[in-house]
Amino acid sequence: MAPVKVYGLPMNGSVARVLVCLEEVGAEYEVVAVDLHTGEHKRLPHLARNPFGQVPAFQDGDLILFESRAISKYILRKESSDLLRENNLSESAMVDVWLDVESQKFDSVMLPIIFQGLVIPVYMGGTSDLKVLEENLEKLKEIMEVYEERLSKSKYLAGDFISLADISHFPMVHLLHETPYASVLDAYPHVKAWIAGVMDRPTVKKVIGLMKTFG
Ligand SMILES: *[C@@H]1O[C@H](CO)[C@@H](O)[C@H](O)[C@H]1NC(C)=O
Repeated sequence: MAPVKVYGLPMNGSVARVLVCLEEVGAEYEVVAVDLHTGEHKRLPHLARNPFGQVPAFQDGDLILFESRAISKYILRKESSDLLRENNLSESAMVDVWLDVESQKFDSVMLPIIFQGLVIPVYMGGTSDLKVLEENLEKLKEIMEVYEERLSKSKYLAGDFISLADISHFPMVHLLHETPYASVLDAYPHVKAWIAGVMDRPTVKKVIGLMKTFG
């Protein structure tokens, strides 16, 4: 079997999410760079892989997918990974709930925080919009209150087992650690302990290494 292909660069959080799932199942894969600076993602052939002109895109034989969480689920299902808890209806439903929380709530506030707090000042040499940063840090705190409550009752988000819902947070958490705003999490001890556990996973450490090398 030819290795699967991931289109995009590991520094991109959505690409990193897919890579960690591939590492979790021990799959062979090839990362194919897509140069966002030259607009390669907005042209063919990339547009044929992802019609929204974004990364990642994913290819396994004839199957082409986009959307990092859908790709992640495909990879984990294909290898019957326990990270989706698919042998237990209620547990897998809780994984879905917290994966939706990650994508709809957490990711939505983290994107502007990372853009204003890291991409603009560090990669583009520009000036951060502090109002946008403050607004979204406040929203992040409201979300973290809910996480703190949840994680004071269960070890991981979906229950007392680690799942894709937890691991899916690692790219944005890693990028937050690269900004001056990581201390926003200090007020939430259960969240901090949960993050430490996720970040300590060997697959996560490996992909963070790739994010740094192939930024
Ligand atoms: C499914 O998971 C729930 C919660 O962890 C547990 O209480 C239940 O016994 C499990 N069901 C089966 C069929 O294993």
